[in-house]
Parts: sequence; C-alpha cells; structure tokens
Amino acid sequence: MTTYLTLVSKTHRLPEDWLDRIRLVSAKNAMQETFQLEEETLRQFLRLRRRLLDEGIDMEAESAYRSIEAQTNLWAEFERDCGLAYCQQFVAVPGYSEHHMGLAVDICFVRDGKVLEDHAPGKEALFARVHAVMPEYGFILRYMAGKEAVTGYGYEPWHLRYVGIEAAKEIAARGLALEEYLAE
Ligand code: DAL
Ligand code: ZN
Repeated sequence: MTTYLTLVSKTHRLPEDWLDRIRLVSAKNAMQETFQLEEETLRQFLRLRRRLLDEGIDMEAESAYRSIEAQTNLWAEFERDCGLAYCQQFVAVPGYSEHHMGLAVDICFVRDGKVLEDHAPGKEALFARVHAVMPEYGFILRYMAGKEAVTGYGYEPWHLRYVGIEAAKEIAARGLALEEYLAE
C-alpha cells in the first residue's frame, strides 16, 4: 500500500523499496512532454488541473517523478548556473528528493500558448488560487514561506506534494509544514 504520509526530507532519505510500493503512471502535459506520477497522485492532479481550467487557469506539470540520476543532473545544472548556495536552498541532494516518490509535482502556467516566466505579472495570484483549492484534491504546499527552518528549503510556490485529501485539508487549515504535522 502506498503511504502518502511518508516523509522524505533533507534528513530522511527515500526508502530503499519505495518504487516497489507504488505504481508510476505516465501522462503528457500541454507542452507534449511526458511526465510520471504515482497513480492516485496523477488522478488527483488531473482533477485539480481540470478544476483550474474551468476557472481559466492552465496549470501544467513541469517536473514530476525524477530518478536519482535525473536529480543528480538537475543538481549539477543548477550548481553550474545558480551556484551552490542556491542548490542548498532549492534543490534536494539525490536520494533525498520528494520527486523520487512520484508524489511531488512542480507546476507552471501556460498563457497564450507560452509557459509563464518566473516573474510574469499575475503569476503570484495564480499560485495563490492553486494553493487555495489544492487541499480539496489532496495536495499541500511543501516548502512554505516562514517554515524554512522546519523544512530546510526556501519558499517553493511551485512544488505540490500529494498526501491525500483528509491530511491535506487539515495541514492546510492549520498552516503546518508536513514535518510539524507528522511530529504530532
Ligand atoms: N526542489 C526540491 C527541494 C527538490 O529538489 O526535491
Ligand atoms: Zn519540486
């Protein structure tokens, strides 16, 4: 059985047998790129996406499941382009990323056929709308502003983590980091 409340963090490595516990399913985003998520996570992500599309927001999966090798390449790319300090704040060490779980998805937005860039006008409001509705679909904001000391990472409005609907609603309503919720 998939345990949606498993903690993977800077101090908690991915369980060795994780990929035996879940089923990864492939899908395509609007940019025609293939991504993979754990099956229930994908189902709920697509429901969330449909809900937002009905409101005129085109939210897409930019990066979902990543192998250890993919995370290793990502770290090297960001270290080269943005430096080590950036990586320590925003990129997990391979083996310690939630993206290995298939339960995390980095989102982007598409407007007029183009992916919105980092500081595009209105992007914050789009993130705010996603964050407001996503607990109903089982997702939480994993790396919150103000919880850097708890999670070990900077604020990542794009990184959604699936934990299941009941837990997501409680975590969001109480403004908790996943670490705080699991410590109770
Ligand atoms: N950006 C998150 C921390 C990761 O690399 O998993
Ligand atoms: Zn992420």
